[in-house]
Amino acid sequence: MQTQHPIIIGHRGAAGEAPENTLASFALALEQGAQGIELDVHLTKDGEIVVCHDPSVDRTTNGSGLIMNQSWGDLKALDAGLWFSEAYTGERIPLLREVFELVPRGLLINVEVKHAYEGRMEKVLLAFLRESGRLADVVISSFDHKVIQRLKQQEPEAKVGLLYAANLINHAAYAKQLGVDVHSLHPYHHGIEHEDVAAANAAGLATYPYTVNEIADYKRLIACGVTGIITDYPARLKSLLQAQ
Ligand code: G3P
Ligand code: CA
Repeated sequence: MQTQHPIIIGHRGAAGEAPENTLASFALALEQGAQGIELDVHLTKDGEIVVCHDPSVDRTTNGSGLIMNQSWGDLKALDAGLWFSEAYTGERIPLLREVFELVPRGLLINVEVKHAYEGRMEKVLLAFLRESGRLADVVISSFDHKVIQRLKQQEPEAKVGLLYAANLINHAAYAKQLGVDVHSLHPYHHGIEHEDVAAANAAGLATYPYTVNEIADYKRLIACGVTGIITDYPARLKSLLQAQ
C-alpha cells in the first residue's frame, strides 16, 4: 500500500546544521526543502515575543540571564551564532515577527509555547497571530496542555497541538478529553505505532512526532503514515523521501 509522504518540519530550523532558532537556521531549513518549521517562544521584559528554546540566553548566546528579565533592546545585541560555529557570528535571537517575514505564506509554522508568563504569553501571541493574518499557517503547541486549552478557548480559529513525551495508551482519547478542538498530536517519536496514527487519523488529528533524526526512525514513521516529521536535518529526510 502506498503511504502518503509526511511533510518535513525543520526543528528550530535546521538545528543539526545551523544555530538553532536563528534566521540562518530557518532559512537553511527552507532551502533544504522543509515545508514547515518548528520554533520556541518566550516573552521579554518589555512584552516582545522572541524565538529561543531555553528560558535563559546562557546556552545559545554570548550573554547570560533570563529572557523575562531583559528587554528586546538588550537581547538583540547578543550573538546567537558564535556558540555553534564562527561561520554564524552575528546571528541574533530573532523576534517571532522576523521569522514570519522570512517564511513564505502557506508554509507551516509550529510555534511552541515554552512558558505561560501567567497568561500574558497567550494574549500577546494571539494578538500577534490575528494581526499577522496567518492563523491558518500556524500550529501552536505546548507541553503545558492548560495553555493549549486556554488558547483555543480564547481564539477558536487557532490550530492547537498537544506536545508530550509520555507513551499514551490512547492518544486520540487524551486529546478529546481536553474539551476543545485539538488540531494535532506532537508525541515523542519513540513509542509511536501504526495503530496510534490510524486512531489519530480516524479522530481527525494530524500527527507530528518529534525530534526524529535517524534514517531508521524516518522509515518507521513514514510507514506509520504520520502527517509530518519534526527533524533537525531537513535535507536528510528530504533525500530519503525523494528516494522512495
Ligand atoms: O516541538 C517539538 C520539540 O521541539 C519539543 O521539545 O525540547 O526540542 O522543545 P524541545
Ligand atoms: Ca521545541
